[in-house]
Amino acid sequence: MAIRKKIIAANWKMNMTSSEAASFMEDLELELKNFDGAEVVIVPPFTALPKLSEILGEIPGVSLGAQNMWHEASGAFTGEVSAGMLREFFTRYVVLGHSERRTIFGETDELINKKVKTALAASLRPIVCVGETLAERDANQHHEVLARQLKGSLAGLDADQMLDTVIAYEPVWAIGTGRTATPEQAQEAHAFIRQTLAEMFDATTASKVRIQYGGSVKPDNAKELLHQSDIDGALVGGASLEPRSFAKIVKAAARG
Ligand code: PGA
Repeated sequence: MAIRKKIIAANWKMNMTSSEAASFMEDLELELKNFDGAEVVIVPPFTALPKLSEILGEIPGVSLGAQNMWHEASGAFTGEVSAGMLREFFTRYVVLGHSERRTIFGETDELINKKVKTALAASLRPIVCVGETLAERDANQHHEVLARQLKGSLAGLDADQMLDTVIAYEPVWAIGTGRTATPEQAQEAHAFIRQTLAEMFDATTASKVRIQYGGSVKPDNAKELLHQSDIDGALVGGASLEPRSFAKIVKAAARG
């Protein structure tokens, strides 16, 4: 079985000024001293990227991600930022297709696919979010929804590009609600995602892709989730805003 290093990302959403971000990192660095059991990605609002890019360069094992980007290189796209602008601040990852982008900002799989391709061409690693709503889960349609989102947002990628991509399974009904998927529900969905990737690419590629779980991950449920065989990390919202609670989740990724 492929060894997949766990990847724990802090999705701060629209929280944290750059000075708050700097003080968070001071605390997190102390909490995670000498820990190298997981890759850590901090995903702040765009405005904190410059400050964090200065600090993170000196912290091993911690890299920077962005919450979104536009797929064109430049031009008349008021309010948007390009992949090149993100690269200027040594951003390594970019979250694409988060459910808040899909529902509040109307992003489709087709648009997300364009962004994924642009990100990869600029050496940014996409973290592509997929997940069903509560109504879809209740109607037992989650496999259908996940397959559609994966096929749409990853269309046209080759296996090497897929290996540079991370998938985040985030059931919409678990995001910010305090209602986490059970470890069994999450594992079942992750296994389905990996099987779909094997059909779209090949079994070896699918066995190497990291699949994060997201949706009300907290220090007290992280370990059980992160020890499921197909769960390779977490995309953490609310509990990533406080250094100590985020550090506990990161440490829960350690083996054993
Ligand atoms: P949550 O958010 O941890 O606050 O549920 C997760 C996410 O939206 O990425």
